[in-house]
Amino acid sequence: MADVGSLQIMAPAKINLFLHVVGKRSDGYHLLQSIFAFTENGDKLTLSPSNTFEFKVEGPFAGELDGQGDATNLVEEAARVFASASDQELDVSITLEKNLPIASGIGGGSADAAATLRLLNRYWGLDWELAKLEEIAIKLGADVPACLYGKPILVQGIGEDISLDIVYEGPEYITLVNPLVSVSTPQVFKTFAATSEFAETCEADELKSVTTSLLHETHNGLEESAKAICPEINLVLDCLGAQEGAKIVRMAGSGATCFALFESRAASLKAIRAIKSEYPNWWVMADKLQN
Ligand code: C5P
Repeated sequence: MADVGSLQIMAPAKINLFLHVVGKRSDGYHLLQSIFAFTENGDKLTLSPSNTFEFKVEGPFAGELDGQGDATNLVEEAARVFASASDQELDVSITLEKNLPIASGIGGGSADAAATLRLLNRYWGLDWELAKLEEIAIKLGADVPACLYGKPILVQGIGEDISLDIVYEGPEYITLVNPLVSVSTPQVFKTFAATSEFAETCEADELKSVTTSLLHETHNGLEESAKAICPEINLVLDCLGAQEGAKIVRMAGSGATCFALFESRAASLKAIRAIKSEYPNWWVMADKLQN
């Protein structure tokens, strides 16, 4: 064990800057081409040494996890799977501060699981490379390997094929809005499979230099399916699109969270204030993308 008191790590929101659904595997999982980016802030995990394994959830969305439990289970599962794969004793107490809404299509449980792996890797002093952690991560969920990285990456396959040599030159500031309606990811993919066509596969090299114009040429293929399940997404997108300086407006991930990208923090904060005053019940967050 490394000589540490308590350790903390962020589990930031995962944003699919675009998400093309390009095929389907025989096991039902969809093949994607997507640029994943991450905010600086999000859920927070704190680990401290303990004789027995303990797991607690606090923060604004802690209550919402009761009964759903996906993030709860994924943090616990990540910890157990990693302890067994690395032959370590699970001698820790982990507290999850749940700041991101549940079932909001921005990583959630996947980001928490990835952060758990990174935190334990540090705590146990294992120094496993992220590429090695990916092998555990993919067993926990399709998006978990990508969430290990925390910077713009190209993701292909169902989430396991990750390219790190991405140059991100798009707007840096992001405003996220969720109408606080949970949307089930499996349901969105099911609706997609029943109603939508696959996008054409692009050459990976064409997707590696991410500029505002590339973002304009791309889309989120799950947007229509998510709107069919949660019509409030239309209103969220209209509202973001009406904000001054919004360069790209799109659904993030599998919904219902949507985002707008801005060139300045001031513009993203102005958008937040306007949206908050018009829709006080929506969840909003302004942040910077990690690059
Ligand atoms: O792997 P994860 O638990 O994040 O995925 C949730 C569900 O979303 C899967 O059970 C599957 O129905 C759908 N999915 C998919 N293709 C992907 C990722 C997820 O069809 N690439």
